[in-house]
Amino acid sequence: MASEAPNAATGPPPAPSPVTAITGTEVIRCIGLTKQFPGRGGAPSVKAVDNLDLAVRKGEIFGLLGPNGAGKTTTVGMLTTRVIPTSGQAIVGDIDVVAEPALAKQLIGVVPQVNTLDRSLTVFENLYFHGRYFGMGAKASRAAANELLERFKLRDRAKADTLTLSGGMAQRVMVARAILHKPAILFLDEPTAGLDPQSRIALWEVVQDLHAQGQTILLTTHYMEEADQLCDRVAIMDHGKILALDTADGLKGSIGADTEIALQADGDLDALAKLLEAGDTVTRTQVTGNVLRAYLRGSAHGALPRLIASADDAGFSITDVSVTEPTLETVFISLTGKELRE
Ligand SMILES: Nc1ncnc2c1ncn2[C@@H]1O[C@H](COP(=O)(O)OP(=O)(O)OP(=O)(O)O)[C@@H](O)[C@H]1O
Ligand SMILES: [Mg+2]
Repeated sequence: MASEAPNAATGPPPAPSPVTAITGTEVIRCIGLTKQFPGRGGAPSVKAVDNLDLAVRKGEIFGLLGPNGAGKTTTVGMLTTRVIPTSGQAIVGDIDVVAEPALAKQLIGVVPQVNTLDRSLTVFENLYFHGRYFGMGAKASRAAANELLERFKLRDRAKADTLTLSGGMAQRVMVARAILHKPAILFLDEPTAGLDPQSRIALWEVVQDLHAQGQTILLTTHYMEEADQLCDRVAIMDHGKILALDTADGLKGSIGADTEIALQADGDLDALAKLLEAGDTVTRTQVTGNVLRAYLRGSAHGALPRLIASADDAGFSITDVSVTEPTLETVFISLTGKELRE
């Protein structure tokens, strides 16, 4: 994961800006944003983020969807003063993050990928001192902390030691802390990674509630369902680059199929793929590992028995079949030839 850079304020002066202000509706902007980490111990350097251009609009939930190592945390790191870009610009509100990190910090709230709650403080104190750190008076910070504990169903945990919290509760405290100073933009890095399904849904409700109140949110995830269900727009990211960017429906529509049939079979899947494509049912196929995906127009009704019969006739024995509509995983596979989680 990306390194923290507490000395961001003393980083190199920014290159002359090609952009003086961002348009009223865009509150996050990356322009040619690049981070190259030097290789350590003879290892080659890593271009974690590669010439990224991105604009996030006010009030939207924007998702960065990508597998491990795609560059999501590094992108968030550069937008939140934690990682100093190698080149390019990161802008939040109308503030250049590298040039004015202290100002940028006032505009943003960040929930990092790892638990950064202060273990020496109670849940309430984690919130209260965050408010104080951001310049809020004692009374205002106490009121805001109490209000958020109520809202996020953490009231009875106010005095608890943070080590005693479940993963879902800790994550809700981190979100509460991140929004306590009323930031214009909230960054959530893998907000539900490792949470059980119930805690995940509880956190989704928190995020949707914030969205309904107009909060701009950039979240990263490697869960396609999360990107699909929560985000207004999704950028699919791999190897530091954005491969596609649209609404979830737009991305899924780009596949040009209504049904995906995933098959596992004994034998040469590439040969089976050719066989299926030669018929008039399947428009396209993709083989990843031991799974063959066949894409069709229309529903699987009628097509599936025909498909299995033709495989059978050619001597392939099908061991597993599943039928779905195309998902964001389908889009990722069609763009990269690999699965999101390998
Ligand atoms: N401090 C660092 N030093 C060297 N390489 C790094 C550093 N931080 C990240 N990287 C590398 O940069 C690439 C992108 O990492 P990053 O953490 O941004 O990915 P990610 O999309 O957030 O992945 P994950 O889903 O695992 O959180 C990876 O190859 C990673 O190993
Ligand atoms: Mg990450």
